[in-house]
Amino acid sequence: MTTTTQLQELVREARERFEASATAADLENAKASFLGKSGAITALMKGLATLDPQQKREQGAEINLAKQAIEQALQARRDALAEAELQARLAEQAIDVTLDGRGQRRGGLHPVVRSWMRIEAIFHSIGFEVAEGPEIEDDWTNFTALNSPQDHPARSMQDTFYVDLEDERGQPLLLRTHTSPMQVRHARAHVERHGSAAMPDIRVIAPGRTYRVDSDATHSPMFHQFEGLWIGRRVSMADLKGVYTEFLHRFFERDDIELRFRPSYFPFTEPSAEIDMMFDSGPLKGRWLEISGAGQVHPTVVRNFGLDPEQFIGFAFGSGIERLTMLRYGIGDLRLFYGSDLRFLEQFHAA
Ligand code: PHE
Repeated sequence: MTTTTQLQELVREARERFEASATAADLENAKASFLGKSGAITALMKGLATLDPQQKREQGAEINLAKQAIEQALQARRDALAEAELQARLAEQAIDVTLDGRGQRRGGLHPVVRSWMRIEAIFHSIGFEVAEGPEIEDDWTNFTALNSPQDHPARSMQDTFYVDLEDERGQPLLLRTHTSPMQVRHARAHVERHGSAAMPDIRVIAPGRTYRVDSDATHSPMFHQFEGLWIGRRVSMADLKGVYTEFLHRFFERDDIELRFRPSYFPFTEPSAEIDMMFDSGPLKGRWLEISGAGQVHPTVVRNFGLDPEQFIGFAFGSGIERLTMLRYGIGDLRLFYGSDLRFLEQFHAA
């Protein structure tokens, strides 16, 4: 016979052993001493066989209560260990939400690209197509077609980088020194498409990268220009002034801008001009600023477009995108555009 006290003692002992088990494995070992095949409870159950039916029923019930109590204690300890393990894992893998993040930096468009896009939008809205062409250009299109034959002194104004290759006609290839070769490419394609008899006017701008052997605070070996070309049967320098004035007012978003044409020389225009502009107010007030080369397209160049210069006439201009961007934002050094300094670039993200 086992007394109630003995059973209570057994339950207490089991609770203690379970409490003392620090790991799931310890706990399972402890369990075996009470509930396992050769555990205390199992042994007591076996002992019932020798008792008479009345005692067996009473003892059996008591042993069962003890067994249930031990099982409960076991389950409680299992739960506690599992919970403790979970907490430990959570603590170990915890993310400190108060730590400063590395963050997602917001990107933005480069100021030169912003200008490029604005220029396209403005000219598009006043009826100009937008064309792009190759930065590696052939010698004929970059120079000869634009009335600067081999050994013409004007070529030395535009020294460039030559590519160690020739095109299929054996011509030297080079990095284009200006966007003017796009006059030739676009005009020839236009004439080919429409023929000259009922040709709609050629009205195009061609923005893009250009290259020269030049590097200081106001010159970079790579820079951006946009070419403008309008060719028709009666297009004059007055139209150039009208178009360019409209462009400047819209680009700078102000009307108090004056323009002047200063005589100049380019092989591919005659007459040629530098376009200067002046703000009537603000920090640059009253200073003439040179912003573009321009002129009436030279008859030889019109002929190279595939058109008769007796019938077709027009103007071209080529402006630096960096220069316009510097004036718009008040930037003093061209090299800032290419330094990749985020302190500079981030100022334009919301501009
Ligand atoms: N291509 C000239 C330059 O880069 C600019 C220009 C273009 C001048 C068109 C006249 C007409 O300096």
